[in-house]
Parts: sequence; C-alpha cells; structure tokens
Amino acid sequence: MVKVFDPQVTGKTSIDGFYEEFDAIEHPFKSPQFLTEAADALARLNANKSLIHDKFAEQGGWASVKSTFQSTQSIILERRQTRYGRISLRCNFWFPLQHSKFEDLERNIYAYEMAHNHNFEFMTIGHHGTGYYTDVGVIDPNAITSYDEQAIEISNRRRIQLCEGRVLYFKMFSDIHVQHPSDEPSISLNLVLDSSEWEREQFEFDMDRGVKLGYVRQGSVERAISAVDFCRFFDSPAASQVLDKLRDQAPFTSIRNAIDVGASIKVAA
Ligand SMILES: [Fe+2]
Repeated sequence: MVKVFDPQVTGKTSIDGFYEEFDAIEHPFKSPQFLTEAADALARLNANKSLIHDKFAEQGGWASVKSTFQSTQSIILERRQTRYGRISLRCNFWFPLQHSKFEDLERNIYAYEMAHNHNFEFMTIGHHGTGYYTDVGVIDPNAITSYDEQAIEISNRRRIQLCEGRVLYFKMFSDIHVQHPSDEPSISLNLVLDSSEWEREQFEFDMDRGVKLGYVRQGSVERAISAVDFCRFFDSPAASQVLDKLRDQAPFTSIRNAIDVGASIKVAA
C-alpha cells in the first residue's frame, strides 16, 4: 500500500549531506523505521531550493540540458553507491495540460491518466507547486497473467495530492496509481531505492473497470520488443538463431510473444 509521510524536519541539506545521512541509516532496508528516516533525509534535501539551479549551473547552459534530461520531464540529479546499493535521485516536472493540439502528446509525456505499476521501488516528495493528484491502489502482482483485459482486484484505493513536502513511497509491482495533471507547474524529487527488477514488465491498468491492460509503453520492455520487431526485417538464419536464443532467455511474456509474432511474419526481400 502506498505510504504517505509528512515529515516535520528543520534545516536543509545538500546532495552530499543527503547521501551521508542516507548511508547512516541503521535499520533494515525498506523497513518502516528505514523508510521514516529516509523520508526525513529526503525532506531536508527538499528544503534546499537551489538544488535544480545548482545542477544546471554545474555544467552550464546547453551542455547540462543535453546531459541531464533522462526523459522529456525528468532529470537525474545524482546516482551514488551506498550501503543499500546504487541509489539515484531524479527530479520530475509536472505541468498542467495546455489544451493545445498537442494535448495527447502532453498526456503521454507525463503519463497522465495512465494507471500503471512500477518495476522499481521509490520515494517521491513534492518539491515545488501544488503537485499532481494520484489515485492509488494495490494489486497482487502474482495474480497477473499474460492476458490483456484480465480482471484484477484493486484494493486500498484512495486519492492523494503530492503537495510540497509530502513523501509517498511506492512498492514495486504491487502499488499501482494513475496521475492527474497538476493545477500549476510542479516539481517532485524521486529517490529510486531499488531498480534491480527493471527488466521485468510494468503493466497498464484500467482502474475504473478493474482490469489489467498490456505492458507499459515507453519503458525498457518496449525498447526490447521494438528491437525484436526490427530483427524480423533481417530474415536470415543468423537472425532466427538470435531470436530463438532470446526466446529462451527472455524473462517476461511480452517479449516471447513478440518473438513468436515476429517469427510468423515473413518480410518480402
Ligand atoms: Fe508512476
């Protein structure tokens, strides 16, 4: 279940200070005490309002734009090895819809109105603005089958607003949510605690109908699938061997399905 923290902390810290504090946490990874202390450390970092400006100033101008944007609305602030593994800090921007002819594109950029689970575990804190609204729920990831439109039970539903200073913690695979546009331009900081399962599928859901849809678009799985799709244009024994090997190794269903579909399509030479 998505956990909500509203840490009451004093003072602020830098990225270095945050990682020192994080590394000094003495509780079992992801335990309730661990999460409370991590949320406090994140809140102290969040109080530092020159973080993003400093990140751009570090490299200066265009170079920092090119090198720091991980996606259209997300920048990496830092990635560092800690006693709990490699932990990254990201910064995400959330804009209200402009209601222009690019509205569909905007929804895609922010994944607004697209319920999904995550193949990583993270905390997020409202850094600036009123923040996005999100409807959250819990599923049993082990109940997921390879069939789209599968009915799935979604429990513990509620609506949360990621207002400034609030921390949310999402568990991998079981916590699902749908985000709605923020009322004003907003920024959140994400602390990615565990990305060891990034090769496993994330799924989309229709929370109103309580069904699982297909895998999440624009993720690591889709990149693998499009590589498989391209592979069928090279209709050669070597390509077939590569696909056969991939089918045996692929840890998830959607890529095996893509290989089977690809294998059945013959592209004219
Ligand atoms: Fe999400």
